[in-house]
Amino acid sequence: MEIINLFGGIYQGKKIFLTGHTGFKGSWLSILLHELGAKVYGYALVPNTTPSLYNIAGVDGLVKSTIGDIRNYDFLLNTMHDVQPDIVIHMAAQPLVRESYKTPRETYETNVMGTVNLFEAVRHTKSVKVLLNVTSDKCYENKEWVWGYRENETMGGYDPYSNSKSCSELVTASFRSSFFNPSYYSKHGVAVASARAGNVIGGGDYAEDRLIPDFIRAISKGESVKIRNPKAIRPWQHVLEPIAGYLTLCEKLLKEGASFSEGWNFGSDDSDAKDVEWIIKKLCTLWGEGATYEIDPTPQLHEATYLKLDCSKAKTRLQWYPKWSVEKTLETIVKFNQSYKRKETLEKVCRDQINDFFFK
Ligand SMILES: NC(=O)c1ccc[n+]([C@@H]2O[C@H](COP(=O)([O-])OP(=O)(O)OC[C@H]3O[C@@H](n4cnc5c(N)ncnc54)[C@H](O)[C@@H]3O)[C@@H](O)[C@H]2O)c1
Repeated sequence: MEIINLFGGIYQGKKIFLTGHTGFKGSWLSILLHELGAKVYGYALVPNTTPSLYNIAGVDGLVKSTIGDIRNYDFLLNTMHDVQPDIVIHMAAQPLVRESYKTPRETYETNVMGTVNLFEAVRHTKSVKVLLNVTSDKCYENKEWVWGYRENETMGGYDPYSNSKSCSELVTASFRSSFFNPSYYSKHGVAVASARAGNVIGGGDYAEDRLIPDFIRAISKGESVKIRNPKAIRPWQHVLEPIAGYLTLCEKLLKEGASFSEGWNFGSDDSDAKDVEWIIKKLCTLWGEGATYEIDPTPQLHEATYLKLDCSKAKTRLQWYPKWSVEKTLETIVKFNQSYKRKETLEKVCRDQINDFFFK
């Protein structure tokens, strides 16, 4: 099968309005959508890390990019209006827990009012048939359970980031009930869903205060990486896993509409929910060259210890399944960063990993 025919070939020629296209997940999704023959229209701020996957993989050349703030409703509406997209995927956000402790107001403004602005813009753009809001596994009220959260569990969030994503879910639910109600789908023709994914990792993430980028930064300076919460368990998954989930879901929303208009979990298999120290030990082994880690003894801001998702619904109704084990995922990260060190063409590295993911 050719890549263009994945997802029933529905992305060929479709106009996708993607917020957050300059970020880590947005860059991977832009490359994949380009491979699928879609026309991608990005809306986001300039990349806020150096390096950024967006720049090093040449994503700018694959999308029609608009640099704009999601908090600027008029500009967002005008931009979307000009595009008249078929599908809107909302990923623009302040995505970091520790940053949200420093800037709670900005986090809520971007993640909550940004979502409201996006929904309002969709409400006034008649071409849109599908709207997917990407939130987080952290949207659930965390009860430190050892088993996975299901989609019908209570929303919550201890820190401002997690809570803002929970609010973004509530905004989604309200707009869906009020303006895009599945019962009146034949009248409005817009299918609205949200996606909750776990700790996403992969080549090209350079964010502050995330485990893998912290490791890459430390190693490149010849230092040992400091880890904060060695026993925290997370559902680690390669970035292409939830992205494949989002595109499977959008395909269903486009073809079958309202019956898929709800929240969906996309997490790793139970066996890939590992603690932070396990991940970093494995990375050190794969990296070689004497890579080491140490545990940071200073008291840390609150972060949940256990967080797992139950993905039975996506597996049963979307036939979506995680593809890569956490070990394979870590291997691809090491390969990506070695290619970066050797100054290889990163766009090709991403395309090769995409091919490997879908066809091997
Ligand atoms: N990376 C993960 O582990 C993970 C896990 C669960 C959910 N998510 C969610 O996935 C999405 C993408 O995350 P990421 O890891 O790629 O983050 P990222 O920081 O790499 O990218 C964030 C994107 O949002 C844009 N953005 C931020 N503030 C904006 C604003 N005010 N106006 C317009 N654009 C703005 C940035 O420019 C960037 O394009 C986010 O919604 C995040 O909450 C990420």
